[in-house]
Amino acid sequence: MKGLFVVLFIFVIVSPSLCARAIRLHDGSPSSFNVVDFGALGDGQTDDSQAFLKAWQAACGAAEDTATLVIPQGKTFLLQPVIFQGPCKPAINVQHGGSIVAPGDSNDWKWPANSNKRGWIQFADINGLTVSGGGQFDGQGASWWKSAGVAFRPSALQFIGCKNLRLSSLTHMNSPRNHIGIVTCSGSDISNLTIRAPMNSPNTDGFDISGSSNILLHDCDIQTGDDCIAINSGSSFINITGVSCGPGHGISVGSLGTPGAFATAEEIHVKNCTFTRTENGVRIKTRPGGSGFARKITFEDIILVGAGNPVIIDQEYVQLEGVTGVKVSEVSYRNVRGTASGLNVVILKCDKDLGCSKITMDSINIASEKRGTPFATCTKADGTCTSCSPTVPCLTNQ
Ligand SMILES: *[C@@H]1O[C@H](CO)[C@@H](O)[C@H](O)[C@H]1NC(C)=O
Ligand SMILES: *[C@@H]1O[C@H](CO)[C@@H](O)[C@H](O)[C@H]1NC(C)=O
Ligand SMILES: *[C@@H]1O[C@H](CO)[C@@H](O)[C@H](O)[C@H]1NC(C)=O
Repeated sequence: MKGLFVVLFIFVIVSPSLCARAIRLHDGSPSSFNVVDFGALGDGQTDDSQAFLKAWQAACGAAEDTATLVIPQGKTFLLQPVIFQGPCKPAINVQHGGSIVAPGDSNDWKWPANSNKRGWIQFADINGLTVSGGGQFDGQGASWWKSAGVAFRPSALQFIGCKNLRLSSLTHMNSPRNHIGIVTCSGSDISNLTIRAPMNSPNTDGFDISGSSNILLHDCDIQTGDDCIAINSGSSFINITGVSCGPGHGISVGSLGTPGAFATAEEIHVKNCTFTRTENGVRIKTRPGGSGFARKITFEDIILVGAGNPVIIDQEYVQLEGVTGVKVSEVSYRNVRGTASGLNVVILKCDKDLGCSKITMDSINIASEKRGTPFATCTKADGTCTSCSPTVPCLTNQ
């Protein structure tokens, strides 16, 4: 009798999950894990981090080929800093239709013990992660911008060591620092994102890409207080198309070359992008004291609307002898047109020892909103300029 009771008791506890499991397996749909079923309230006040982590662990450990983590529409989830750690058995599809907010005051952030404090929401070491669904991430950066120095401000989202990442149809706003960090990832498709932060908010880059390769970033609308996209060291085969940038500081390769470090960037292709009232347009920036290269970079079909420094290579060269630098070569600009806010519309400021080589310009037509004649300045660059207005002094104009 007592034995039967124990058996019944165990059956009652175990059977609902057995049934749920059976349904998942038998209806043929991928398994789905809703954060609300794991205790998330979504009232915008209660910390839902633990519920999200439990849902993540369930999805990440699911036996199927694909698991979906559902963040439902119509709710606002308050999250403390969290790490969604892989590797996972299935490919994970995060279906984010709701709103995720950070604590409103930087003093209220609670870092997990194992955190490097670099990012609010970190996804690490995941192969086959998709995040999409029309949802929103709000980093509530205002109190960070006022109170903390840049060294202490975290990124909003960071994807670290991810393979085959797909990110689409989301809105990101008011990060304490950069909105989306792509760090040591390979193979990503990023599209249809809207990024918004006030134009005077400090260091609020849209994207920072570093140590990553084979990244396609397209059809994004970015208005921030710093670079719309910064491509940093160790990046290669990065294609950016259909990005509308501004206000913001433009699209930048670099800064590359912290003193003593070897920095590289190559096969970076920026095409069909618009810069509206940005501080810079397309920029390559290196610092003295490092070494390495930035090469095989193309900027094509670029539209400028009152942009500052539309075309700029800035090697911040110093006059001291023997200071090393990052070599810039094989950079081409084709079909760059529109208006600049100032008169110095092309600036090629290259290292006095290394110079910039194989610079190709073709069909450049940049007018100025200012009265006067637009002009280009150039130090230590060589290459050609075909159909350029204005002409560029140290290139061969044809
Ligand atoms: C882009 O994202 C928005 C949500 O942010 C969505 O409503 C829209 O359908 C998406 N467009 C495409 C082409 O996916
Ligand atoms: C990246 O852009 C380059 C130059 O436009 C192009 O040749 C290459 O096919 C692109 N790669 C992908 C994967 O779209
Ligand atoms: C260029 O980018 C815009 C978005 O900024 C997009 O609507 C348009 O279709 C793109 N054109 C081409 C030829 O890809």
